[in-house]
Amino acid sequence: MARLRTVYVCSDCGAQHPKWNGQCATCGAWNTLVEDVVGNDAPLVSKTVAVNRSLNATSDPLPIMNVAHTATSAMPTGISEFDRVLDGGLVPGSVTLVSGEPGIGKSTLLLQLVGAWSHTSLYVSAEESAQQVRFRAERIGVTGDDTYLVSAMSLGDIIAAIDKVKPSLVVVDSVQTIADESVESAPGSVTQVRECAFRLVQEAKARNVTVILVGHVTKDGNIAGPRLLEHVVDTVVSFEGDRLHPLRMVRAIKHRFGTTNELGLFEMTDRGLVGVPDASNMLLADRQHGVAGSVVVPTIDGQRPLLVEVQALTTKLATGVTPRRSAQGVESSRLAMLLAVLERRATIPFASLEVYASVVGGVRLNDPGSDLAICLALASAALDTPVHSDMVALGEVGLGGELRHVTHLERRVIEAERMGFRQVLIPSNSKAPELRRATLVRAATISDALSLAL
Ligand code: TYD
Ligand code: MG
Repeated sequence: MARLRTVYVCSDCGAQHPKWNGQCATCGAWNTLVEDVVGNDAPLVSKTVAVNRSLNATSDPLPIMNVAHTATSAMPTGISEFDRVLDGGLVPGSVTLVSGEPGIGKSTLLLQLVGAWSHTSLYVSAEESAQQVRFRAERIGVTGDDTYLVSAMSLGDIIAAIDKVKPSLVVVDSVQTIADESVESAPGSVTQVRECAFRLVQEAKARNVTVILVGHVTKDGNIAGPRLLEHVVDTVVSFEGDRLHPLRMVRAIKHRFGTTNELGLFEMTDRGLVGVPDASNMLLADRQHGVAGSVVVPTIDGQRPLLVEVQALTTKLATGVTPRRSAQGVESSRLAMLLAVLERRATIPFASLEVYASVVGGVRLNDPGSDLAICLALASAALDTPVHSDMVALGEVGLGGELRHVTHLERRVIEAERMGFRQVLIPSNSKAPELRRATLVRAATISDALSLAL
């Protein structure tokens, strides 16, 4: 057996270094070096560079329009929300990484995917026994004859299974639990994850088999593996959501064969994931009217408009205590900024209030166009006065209390009208969208907006 030695591997670019350092000397990232153990004969090189080179066969330089273009036609997966994200489907011979937090539903979605695939497919589980997967498959209705299942952890066994079954789609669940026996590192280590992914990419290209790798990430996306694999694979799909809510969001972060701005929506049910074509309807289903602290915003995610309810609650603070600020679905630094603007520009005394803000349905509201709605919800809660229940609000809020225009105004307004809202509060300098049934209400500043909405 080869002697082992310790190296420090950058979890961003995969470069190996003999000593630990705060910064990776290859890619410049900070605090990304993690300890790893490799065999003594392993070359000490930047493997990522080697991986990328070997994927692109060398060729003579040609004028760009003389380069032959090979058609890469995507095959629909049979799951329409997933096809939407992939811009049509999966390209034969491509490698896709599906990343997400543990328990979010990756295995469920991919099991449904192999079931829906119209040709032979193979699901490799390296985390659960074949019996466990079969039990789940039956429950969610994955029963086809051409759907194969194997429980395997070694790369050799996985490749042997591909040889035997000859599938056109292989799912490996997960890349952190498989191991190449010729590599000394433990499963899940940077070296092992990278090596296995690299071998599977080679197999996919050589056999023209579509491969999907599952990768677990933590909330900050920081576990060794998936970040580093982004360079190696063709497509990275991220699977997000709040485990306590049924809504799941799927989006492509990187896609060599299409656009990355489509959002796929699913609902986790007791029979697996079900596509949600009308998410606004689902998100507003439990909304109560006439309650202080509730405001609806037509947000946009990818190309998709979504009506989301923002809720706020304030309570009086006992004197001498630091006020609590709790935010769900909104960055806490953004909440602090919006509270400061409301305090200074609209003289609402938040310093003496505890503040809770939350976005309904487990949605994360990163869209700056939702600032105004968050502010209105906060002010409405503090003043205990409801916002007009048929009103939606749109606008980015500046530090001076001014309202700034938002992107995709027309698409957002159409969605609000579709869902029955009749007043749209927008910044006064926004270009007027075409309205069919709703009326526009314009405000230049946050204090104007408060007097119009409350
Ligand atoms: P899973 O697909 O195992 O997540 P991951 O592979 O990302 O770790 O899904 C885990 C959760 O999904 C689990 O807590 C139970 C829930 N679930 C359902 O609600 N309905 C179902 O039909 C299935 C299969 C799972
Ligand atoms: Mg799983």
